[in-house]
Amino acid sequence: MPKVYIETYGCQMNEYDSEIVQAILQENRYQFVVQPEEAEILLLNTCSVRENATRKVLARVHALRHLTNGREKIIGLLGCMTTNLRQSLLENKKMRIDLMAGPDSYKRLPGLLDQALTDRKAVHDLKLSRSETYSDIHPFRAKSVNGWIAVMRGCDNYCTFCVVPYARGRERSRSIDSVLNEVRRLAEQGFRQVTLLGQNVNSYHHQNHDFAFLLNKVSEIDDIWRIRFTSPHPKDFPDSLLKTVADNSKVCKHIHLPLQAGADRILDRMNRTYSRQQYMDLVDKIRQYCPSIALTTDIIVGFPGETDEEFENTLDVVQRVQFDSAFIFKYSPRRGTIAARKYPDDVTPAQKTERIVHLNAVQKEISLNKNRSHIGEAHQVLIEELVTRKSDLDVQGRTDGNKLVILPKGDLQVGEMVSVRISGASANVLKGKVIQASIDLSAHSFIFH
Ligand code: SAH
Ligand code: SF4
Ligand code: F3S
Repeated sequence: MPKVYIETYGCQMNEYDSEIVQAILQENRYQFVVQPEEAEILLLNTCSVRENATRKVLARVHALRHLTNGREKIIGLLGCMTTNLRQSLLENKKMRIDLMAGPDSYKRLPGLLDQALTDRKAVHDLKLSRSETYSDIHPFRAKSVNGWIAVMRGCDNYCTFCVVPYARGRERSRSIDSVLNEVRRLAEQGFRQVTLLGQNVNSYHHQNHDFAFLLNKVSEIDDIWRIRFTSPHPKDFPDSLLKTVADNSKVCKHIHLPLQAGADRILDRMNRTYSRQQYMDLVDKIRQYCPSIALTTDIIVGFPGETDEEFENTLDVVQRVQFDSAFIFKYSPRRGTIAARKYPDDVTPAQKTERIVHLNAVQKEISLNKNRSHIGEAHQVLIEELVTRKSDLDVQGRTDGNKLVILPKGDLQVGEMVSVRISGASANVLKGKVIQASIDLSAHSFIFH
């Protein structure tokens, strides 16, 4: 049995895809190992979203080339870099990539690998599909508390900075039944939380059913206690979805709402399809429906043409909205995107650095204040994993609003839901004490068997 090692970069969708790849290859007599030294085949599931992400992968390929065991290993790239950078990767003789498979080609991986192993010739399959959703594959998952499920794939939005529509192709959703079957399997295996994934998850639609309908159906499955979803786009929040998030007790009270920029001219150049005011109005409406909601966001600083004043507009939105946390990125031009073709990358590296440092400092203060406001409150926390600190053994879990909470281990078990009194807070994490252990939210027992 050929031994395979896989490393995953990028977003949760890639984590999920690596589970798909593992399931497909295991079905076809490939065996997975955890050390690259032991493997004959090294796979990197790649991300292309920013220059840093691609650089990291290329450096890793160089490092892995030195592992030989007498015979050269097969090095394969999967995922978003392959479809986005296909030409430059194919032409790059120095890299010597033996195999490339795009995000819609994983069912053909066994054949490609057989070919690469026997012919020792570079092979690739980068065709994107309008229909592939892998809904007939049961991903291979390590035992855990949270299970990822891609409910839609691809993106048709063409934000001008973004490679995803090129790297992953057209939007497509899988059927309600296939999602529900997978969630049922997860529940039977002891998973207690599911995270529904999509590049644009709330534009999910299958036949006449929309994302709110899907959330409500998933929530009917008994042993699943929590449902999360990521990443939604602000353009797809009908009232029915806001109502579902607010009223359905299993749907977590957290929305990741990518802002990207706070100035209308930049939002327009980014093709985000909403104005600053529309975004702010949506935030207000979300909070009317659900006052306790946690809001997080993504922001890009230094998009082409962004003036100091326009950056101040972003700061202003951040101050007004008071996000619980934010991922802030420097704009990085991506080959093939509309922004890279149309707008010179004219905000200097020094300006981008200054803006990101400034915005991070402002957000950190907001996150700290938000987190401190939870001190003294009681929250339900789902224990997700053990963490070892210098001396004590702790566990970590998350609140409904997705805040990380550290608790002393005591008798607590991974997969247990507990009620916690929050006793401390930093900008990134809460600390707490258990006030009630073992809350059983379903008919059956909650701990893994
Ligand atoms: N589908 C998700 C985004 C996926 S990419 C969504 O629409 O929210 C994750 C984040 O990376 C984006 O929200 C954006 O903030 C950032 N990003 C994407 N392309 C980028 C680029 N070219 N430069 C810098 N940041 C980028
Ligand atoms: Fe990229 Fe925009 Fe699609 Fe998100 S919605 S994946 S940022 S094109
Ligand atoms: Fe990266 Fe592809 Fe995800 S570009 S962020 S791995 S969709």
